[in-house]
Amino acid sequence: MSTKSKKNSSKDQFSSFGFIMAAIGSSVGIGNMWKFPYLAGANGGGAFLFTFIICLILVGIPILLAELALGRAGRGDAMSSFQTLAVRHRKFWGFFGLLSVIAAFLIITFYMVVTGWTFQYAIGSFTGNLYRQTDNAAYFAQFAGGPLPLVYTVITVLITGAVLIKGVSKGIELFNKILIPILAILLVVLMIDAMSLSGGMKGVEFFLKPDFSLFTIESTLIALGQAFFSLSLGMGAMITYGSYVDKSQSLGKATLAVSLGNIVYALIAGLIIFPITFAFGLEPAAGPGLIFVALPTAFADMPFGHVIGGTFFVLLAGAALTSCVSVLEVIVAFVIKHLNWTRRKSVIVLSIITAVVAIPVSLSVGGPIADWKLFGKGVFDLFDFTASNILLPVVGLAVTIFIGYISKKGAEEAKLNPSLHRIWISLLRYVVPVFVILIFLYSTGLI
Ligand code: PFF
Repeated sequence: MSTKSKKNSSKDQFSSFGFIMAAIGSSVGIGNMWKFPYLAGANGGGAFLFTFIICLILVGIPILLAELALGRAGRGDAMSSFQTLAVRHRKFWGFFGLLSVIAAFLIITFYMVVTGWTFQYAIGSFTGNLYRQTDNAAYFAQFAGGPLPLVYTVITVLITGAVLIKGVSKGIELFNKILIPILAILLVVLMIDAMSLSGGMKGVEFFLKPDFSLFTIESTLIALGQAFFSLSLGMGAMITYGSYVDKSQSLGKATLAVSLGNIVYALIAGLIIFPITFAFGLEPAAGPGLIFVALPTAFADMPFGHVIGGTFFVLLAGAALTSCVSVLEVIVAFVIKHLNWTRRKSVIVLSIITAVVAIPVSLSVGGPIADWKLFGKGVFDLFDFTASNILLPVVGLAVTIFIGYISKKGAEEAKLNPSLHRIWISLLRYVVPVFVILIFLYSTGLI
């Protein structure tokens, strides 16, 4: 055995169940529990769900598999995986890996701020403080713009850092193996409770009954963007996790499990949120305010609302944390590889940098620097826009082209049976690029 392969085989890696849990953990997050339900509610309910599933099948699943294969074949962080597999134009391809690390950095800062909000709401629910407010919208605005989220962001950074410092199997894997099943149980319990509320079925109808009159090109592009973000694509997360997967594990099955898990968690989240909002006569498509404004209003009047609300926000915090872990790991793996630092040093330094950069991000949400604008956007929105709307589709397209056309070795790493392989490669070559370019043009306002 060569020194290199010896080193690879001793690499800290996932067990097969651990990998599935970690990948589901990355994919299931605030996007599923918060964004998906309100997008579905506003864009035709079941019709949106239908479009979302088609987008997952035609675009999300092929790219997810491509990212995992790229990571496992390249055996490195997002940048070096591209570089290892690129026979020519290494720097060019490596650049897209670097872009994904930059995207991860931008996303982690605002994602951690929102994760922090869920802590405050969990604590506020259990103590009842949240339900003593007369105006939930004003309370949220005051809280988000104040100094308290900074404390919660630091807590989020500390938890994420503590998990990552322990490494892949003892840190990331263990954390996800414990949390993801617990989240599933809590979700089901909350769903049963929500659906048994009188008037709750109206919410189910709103969420799931297809209204094809709301089915438009725009709603399709929204579904596409959501499928992308929700599967954690374009940010190096799945490339990095793929590099920790054993060669004997089926990437095809893992991809299916993650996609299915993703839909199920999003569906259940909707089956909690809408029955509750409808049972209490609240505005269902209240956009982002749905979680932090409408739901607390309902919890306040609900039997055992403190516990139910508290559990809901703990769930949201858990789902968000497992995503935070995967995003920060993208940057940690990059630094370990390219600066040759130890994992410990990388995690500590990056945690500090992340926490510091998160300060202006948090203070820009209605806080003292809300007026600082660049290209008409505050810091939070600018980071979100640059990463989600520009970098993610660009990297997604690079992965698609790279595996579809350039790296045979990367494509073969998926180890699909020949007919599935052909379908997958055809999708990557002829279907996915068109859709990803459309997402890009739409999300940057060019169409
Ligand atoms: N998929 C996560 C969500 O839907 O909330 C967000 C996310 C996590 C995006 C990890 C990207 C990523 F690398």
